[in-house]
Amino acid sequence: MKKCLLLGNGGREAVLAEQISKNYALYSIMPYVNPTIEEYVKKSQGKYLVGNPFDKELVKKFIIDEKIEACVVSQDNLLQDGLIDLAKELGIETFGPTSKGAKIEWSKTYALEIVKKLAPEMVIKNVAITTQEELDKAIEQYEDDSFVVKPEGLTGGKGVKVGGIHFKGKEEGYQYAKSCLEEAGRVIVQDKVEGREFTVMALTDGEHIVVTPITFDYPYRFEEDKGPGTGGMGCLSFADGKLPFLEQADIDKCAELIQKTIHELNSENLEFNGVIYGGFFKCKDGIKFIEFNARFGDPEAINVLNALETPFTEIFEHIQNKTLSSSNCKFKKNYTFTVYVVSPNYAIKSTKEQCEFKLNKQAILENDAKIYFSSTKHIEGNNYTSVGNSRLFAVHTEGNTLEEAKEKAYRAMENNIDEKLSYRKDIGEIYEH
Ligand code: GLY
Repeated sequence: MKKCLLLGNGGREAVLAEQISKNYALYSIMPYVNPTIEEYVKKSQGKYLVGNPFDKELVKKFIIDEKIEACVVSQDNLLQDGLIDLAKELGIETFGPTSKGAKIEWSKTYALEIVKKLAPEMVIKNVAITTQEELDKAIEQYEDDSFVVKPEGLTGGKGVKVGGIHFKGKEEGYQYAKSCLEEAGRVIVQDKVEGREFTVMALTDGEHIVVTPITFDYPYRFEEDKGPGTGGMGCLSFADGKLPFLEQADIDKCAELIQKTIHELNSENLEFNGVIYGGFFKCKDGIKFIEFNARFGDPEAINVLNALETPFTEIFEHIQNKTLSSSNCKFKKNYTFTVYVVSPNYAIKSTKEQCEFKLNKQAILENDAKIYFSSTKHIEGNNYTSVGNSRLFAVHTEGNTLEEAKEKAYRAMENNIDEKLSYRKDIGEIYEH
């Protein structure tokens, strides 16, 4: 059985662990023991180390000592740091871009330059700013706070701030942009547009792409899309792979940009395989580009990997052989539904305090729902504790209708999750901004 190393430790890696372990022996280096990853390492008779996945000497030694043959990375900062580059240097099979390929995520200005070149009509009016003077001039163009501030680098989905939602008034937006500029030497100020946000992810072998079911994410912390931005509080996908407000032509437009971008990134060397994530807006005047990520979204990965009909490991092989196509990478025709459960302070108050909580995992499983752990450690029995102040675990269901999947998830969660924890009760609503 192929030995496959998975780096990273969130809910996204928990579902990847489940998928990889179906046909490969799963190996992992994680900073704490994620209970889902541990379960699948054990089931597949692999091995894990509790250690720092950024420590390249440690990763190298583990790959060599354990004779690991494949490596999957889907976490933004591990990609930026070049963990796939390391695996390639060691001559093993890889799923994920090199650091150079992942630049489309870790440099927002680079991503915008590419889209400007390949699909200028999809770019929202913006200015890439590198000096205080440029910033002053850019903000002067706005009468009020109808602009968006995008930091240059990685922010775990929490850095983009929208006027009127994340900051109120021009001055607050200006101060935020100034702090981003001071930190990274670059910041983007962009027009605020009205529309519906959606995600198009595509698997790629570096040449071909296969678009996964389109997902709808819930980035705001509270019901009715209120409160601060988060990494994602929930996600859904529809049985037809679309969303009610999208036409096939809209999806084709995004897929065309993604295909061209993959060609551009791999024009000299293979820098990008794995999965590319495009964030888009459907606006009155067409589809607009928001951002690229060089990885699966979290929780989007939970929806999309559960919707796979083809085993993930077969897709992995097609990616290595550059034979990926829509005829060998298929998805089920069902609705998928994910809700993230978080610490009460998540995205609200910065604290290192641990949050101990009770969770009746067995009862949730008996209700036909799945659990994927993220920033959680198991203590014993139904007792768990948070690691930091982040998302704790995701509950996932499937159904023949959205209502069925939704009801199943919330029913499974009722009375089985510690009352002190927090989750959105309105996943399933399709909001417009
Ligand atoms: N859920 C958004 C992301 O993973 O970036």
